[in-house]
Amino acid sequence: MLDKDAHDSPTGPKGKIITGHTKEFQSDTIGFLTRLAKEYGDVAKLRLGPFQNVYLISDPDLIKQILVTKQKSFLKSKDFDSLKPLIGEGLITSDKDFHMRQRRLIQPSFKKTHISNYAQDMIDITKEYISTWKNGEERIITEDTMSLALGIVSKTMFSTELKDGYNLIGEPIDEVMKVAVKRMRNLFQLPLWIPTKSNREYKKVLERLDTVIYSIIEGRREDAKSHEDMLGILMEARDEVDGLGMSDRQVRDEVMTIFLAGHDTTATLLSWTLYLLSQNPEVEAKLFHEIDTVIGNRTPTPDDFMKLTYTQNIIWESLRIYPPLYVISRKAAEDVSIGNYHFKKGEMFLLSSYVMHHNPEYFDQPESFIPERFENNYLKTIPPFAYFPFGGGPRVCIGNHFALMEAVLVLACIAQQYRIKLAPDHHEVKPLPLLTLRPKSGLRMIVEERNNG
Ligand code: HEM
Repeated sequence: MLDKDAHDSPTGPKGKIITGHTKEFQSDTIGFLTRLAKEYGDVAKLRLGPFQNVYLISDPDLIKQILVTKQKSFLKSKDFDSLKPLIGEGLITSDKDFHMRQRRLIQPSFKKTHISNYAQDMIDITKEYISTWKNGEERIITEDTMSLALGIVSKTMFSTELKDGYNLIGEPIDEVMKVAVKRMRNLFQLPLWIPTKSNREYKKVLERLDTVIYSIIEGRREDAKSHEDMLGILMEARDEVDGLGMSDRQVRDEVMTIFLAGHDTTATLLSWTLYLLSQNPEVEAKLFHEIDTVIGNRTPTPDDFMKLTYTQNIIWESLRIYPPLYVISRKAAEDVSIGNYHFKKGEMFLLSSYVMHHNPEYFDQPESFIPERFENNYLKTIPPFAYFPFGGGPRVCIGNHFALMEAVLVLACIAQQYRIKLAPDHHEVKPLPLLTLRPKSGLRMIVEERNNG
């Protein structure tokens, strides 16, 4: 994969001898990456720690080469390794043939026909959840969207077994996730077998979670009837090449992977969308108009998704301004040339949707919330990978249609009944880049019933 003509050398700011640019990267990830792209162009060089060269790639064609054309020369970087006790060898952490096989097995659970079935759950859960909201009350919306997304993924995964889905699974997942994210950001973490207090706690919740999940899987193996939910589809999946299915351990790893990948991202998207709407009354008015025209006072249905075109554009625009997975990373599996640059095996690459989505070359007034920009197939007029909230290539988000359907239907259910305003004494809202790009310190918002007839 080497190109003899590749000769350009990437440049970047001078870093500290030992730590390189670790401090700037950790303390202000978004600001640092944005400045790097502005000052050093398509390929900016930085260093994390004494030896790890890292390149921020900010050109759509070079991003496409890494994710699609030359993807075989790259592996997932190891930044998810600290999550392995939770998600094992699931889709996110695996590579090469094993990843391809798992992807083949799991893809059918995300077919459009199945997603339409899950859509009804999305509506039912949202309607039930928001029915308890009281006119004029202040709520921590970031917690609400998290509970909703967790409820939805629990229901689509386990359907009937988990009437108390989120209490049994949601709570330990939430705890595990908090520790896992902390571990991911901590460069010098102690391995799990060292019995520190936090390691012991982490292991305890993980064990609790495993007990619940394995007992459900076991119950299903003993029960001959087939199940329509995602777990049923995962357990019945057979590989078209070798005819085999997944072991219990693999099913457990993929269940955890889908929980991890599927709830925080969508919840974050919904939180940002509600915040952006609260700051842009003209957009909010157009949203209400569409909801009132398409749905009126009846209960939303899965078929409404296709008709809610302005609502869909609101979601696309929210994903542009605050892409929940704001950076994707890869590691070179071999020496490789990308564009005019030559890279060595082991070097790392950051592809930031946040940086690309805020580039005025592709998005006019990039800081403004303008859903209309997505009308008339706008994305067809800019290079592929100038906009990539769901990644791309063989590792494109497997849940992208699921997430869009969920975001549009949940937003439709909420907007049909409520207008959501930021609490008057709210702190300044800023993004906090953890595993996902969340609103820092959460969002407190007032829910007001709409008098729409
Ligand atoms: C707004 C919501 C979401 C966003 C922004 C998002 C974004 C992404 C991105 C950017 C990737 C690619 C990562 C990479 O290439 O390194 C990805 C992968 C993945 N996503 Fe999503 N995602 C969302 C929702 C979901 C949902 C709802 C699910 C499942 C129910 C899901 C499951 C996955 C899985 C399993 C992968 C790994 C795929 C693979 O490597 O083959 N995601 N997601």
